Amino acid sequence: MSGHGRHGGFPAVRPRRLRTTPAMRRMVAETRLHPAELILPAFVREGVREPVPVESMPGVVQHTRDSLRKAAAEAVAAGVGGIMLFGVPEEAKKDAVGTPGTDPDGVLQVAIRDVRAEVGDDLVVMSDLCLDEHTDHGHCGVLDERGRVDNDATLERYAEMARAQADAGVHVVGPSGMMDGQVGVVRAALDAAGHQDVSILAYTVKYASAFYGPFREAVGSSLTGDRKTYQQDGANAREALRELALDLGEGADMVMVKPALPYLDVVRRVADAVDVPVAAYQISGEYAMVEAAAANGWIDRDRAIMETLTSVRRAGAGLVLTYWAVEVARWLGAGR
Ligand code: PBG
Repeated sequence: MSGHGRHGGFPAVRPRRLRTTPAMRRMVAETRLHPAELILPAFVREGVREPVPVESMPGVVQHTRDSLRKAAAEAVAAGVGGIMLFGVPEEAKKDAVGTPGTDPDGVLQVAIRDVRAEVGDDLVVMSDLCLDEHTDHGHCGVLDERGRVDNDATLERYAEMARAQADAGVHVVGPSGMMDGQVGVVRAALDAAGHQDVSILAYTVKYASAFYGPFREAVGSSLTGDRKTYQQDGANAREALRELALDLGEGADMVMVKPALPYLDVVRRVADAVDVPVAAYQISGEYAMVEAAAANGWIDRDRAIMETLTSVRRAGAGLVLTYWAVEVARWLGAGR
């Protein structure tokens, strides 16, 4: 019976031997987290004097210009890899075409300049390239006369946004609106403006998800409907590969899958298919679920956080956007 690993009725092969002590488990771990692969999403709100807590995301705030700079400095100190900035303009400045998104003095452009002044090149500074934070209707694009999101008119706005963000000093732009052709248009706009070194982290595979709920509060979104005509249907995985081929062809330097935990199979498929860095975004609702359950005493918060992040990495994402980035980076730095 030795072929079956059994002697005298007992197993000779015992996987449990490799789980006996913390040191043993640490040594044989197939997946490790490192602070440098974590990216902190951060919100900055125009016109506030104090950071404003996001109720549905306990521990997350809409930053003031000052508190954002401090948060960026803390991220550097913790060894975090990058920061992804989202701007929340004053309500009165939002309009149908999202003017604050292209205004050189718009909240996001100001935030990019502030953060670059604070951290220089010590942190990869990224910005969300999308209109939804800046439009009064809350959609990711401009609307046609029938109220539908107009793909090609939106691309022209994205080109302008890319230039504005690059002029402000961003290292990486993150086009997240799921318009067809967005990566190509953004690349061309950056190159034409002399920003060949600014790279594109494409939100390549982005599903229309219920888990974006808390983000809507975080950016004070005005959206009433949904984004199902431009974001992907959660039923589809092969379609993700189609989006992937397009974005790579258009010049994406890095690609992202979003949300993370409900779509780990897609993360794996994408990671197996490409040779560029793959990111996964652990979104607001994923964060809120863990925080809410932990607040009720229903799960062990810290373990749940590490388990979700490890799972995302194990599925093949080399980079993870997570609202816990700084906290987790500190744990890792302390040897956890
Ligand atoms: C679009 C954008 C969204 C998120 C990141 N970029 C919202 C959406 O597509 O509805 C969501 C992030 C999160 O939920 O944490 N600007």
